[in-house]
Amino acid sequence: MASLQERIDMSVTRTVKAIFPNTTNHYDTLFGGTALMWMDELAFITATRFSRQRMVTVSSDRVDFKKPVPAGTIAELIGRVTHVGTTSIIIKVEVYLEQMYSDEREKAMEGTFTMVAIDEHKKPVKISY
Ligand SMILES: CC(C)(COP(=O)(O)OP(=O)(O)OC[C@H]1O[C@@H](n2cnc3c(N)ncnc32)[C@H](O)[C@@H]1OP(=O)(O)O)[C@@H](O)C(=O)NCCC(=O)NCCS
Repeated sequence: MASLQERIDMSVTRTVKAIFPNTTNHYDTLFGGTALMWMDELAFITATRFSRQRMVTVSSDRVDFKKPVPAGTIAELIGRVTHVGTTSIIIKVEVYLEQMYSDEREKAMEGTFTMVAIDEHKKPVKISY
């Protein structure tokens, strides 16, 4: 059976998006609501891969939008478990902005999400990894 650290490492989840015009706002940068949806989905997948249980989002903590993400760039989202509670897991999600035609890369956003394991009656259950 994997240790806590091994489960955290094996459940790190990454997704990469091209910032096409269908995801941008009228400033030609990534729309914040779309970014939040991507981050919540990534947190959900990270928590599910960690626990292999049914998970729901109970809370999204502070999310910082540090840099605008322009159309025509690449965004990489990385989710990692930072805390395991009794029925909840906290996931940190970082979003990196990467240029298409150079190796330039910087952190653009980060936030934390709390996910709760639920049973078939949608009640919280113990995280059993
Ligand atoms: C998630 C849900 C089942 C939790 O039920 P609940 O009765 O509030 O749960 P509890 O009070 O027993 O708390 C369960 C865990 O969540 C944590 N929690 C509850 N509310 C929280 C909040 N606002 N912020 C952070 N953690 C929270 C508790 O600390 C606890 O963690 P622990 O067991 O690790 O100590 C319920 O709130 C719910 O169904 N929410 C809707 C979920 C949803 O629809 N999400 C969007 C779609 S995925």
